[in-house]
Amino acid sequence: MAELINTGIPGVDEMCGGGIPESAVVIVSGSPGIGKSNFAMQYLYNGVEKYNEPGIYLTVEDVPEKVRAYAAAFGWDLEKYEKENKLAIVAQPIFGEEEEKKGKKKEDAGETLGEAIERIGAKRIVLDSVTLFKYLFKDDMSRRVNLLNFIKQVKDSGCTTMMVAEQHESTGDITYLDEHFLADGLILLFWSRHKEKNERCFRVVKLRGQKINPDIRPMEITEKGIMVYPTQVPLSLAEK
Ligand SMILES: Nc1ncnc2c1ncn2[C@@H]1O[C@H](COP(=O)(O)OP(=O)(O)O)[C@@H](O)[C@H]1O
Ligand SMILES: [Mg+2]
Repeated sequence: MAELINTGIPGVDEMCGGGIPESAVVIVSGSPGIGKSNFAMQYLYNGVEKYNEPGIYLTVEDVPEKVRAYAAAFGWDLEKYEKENKLAIVAQPIFGEEEEKKGKKKEDAGETLGEAIERIGAKRIVLDSVTLFKYLFKDDMSRRVNLLNFIKQVKDSGCTTMMVAEQHESTGDITYLDEHFLADGLILLFWSRHKEKNERCFRVVKLRGQKINPDIRPMEITEKGIMVYPTQVPLSLAEK
């Protein structure tokens, strides 16, 4: 049995049957604004702060300053841990093909994922987002190959990885993509409506090797971050 990694996000480890198996790749999927990036950052920050497990935030969406600012809104000081070599932000912004040809990508490139893993002895990795990551490559074939290579790289490193994925459906239904089949786990964050109220919901769809709680549970974003309530029923699903 693999060792379990705690997310430390209230309610989440319980829903996952105790935690996430070490070196698993888990997708956190949901529609824009639901809380995926916050969720992934909280997993990473808790790793550093509570469990002494260094982590890397690989972002395709934002520059590092923005990532630090979003985290700071919850009172999470990334810079402090960056200075201590316990946390690294690796930014891999999208470049157009033209720029790539001119060699801009190479000149601007900072530390690679592999270099950061070595430098801080990473145990956790976040990719935000796998959806945009795929657009770094120009055709379907190279997207698949590069996604497979990424998954192989993080698995070989022994790190436990969360990949953020955009999901356009706002309900609890899923459109299955390549990455869903490649991953060991799938967590879905979605909106559920009750009259005029929209409520955030949480569901573990799969987690290889774990006895999960597959039920739908309410989720909140508070000033301290994400909270999931494993014993509560969403308002929209409660019997009258
Ligand atoms: N302190 C807070 N309290 C409540 N909600 C917050 C707080 N800070 C951010 N949010 C919510 O987080 C949402 C964005 O979460 P984010 O993880 O960036 O979403 P996603 O990555 O799924 O697009 C915003 O829509 C905002 O409503
Ligand atoms: Mg996001």
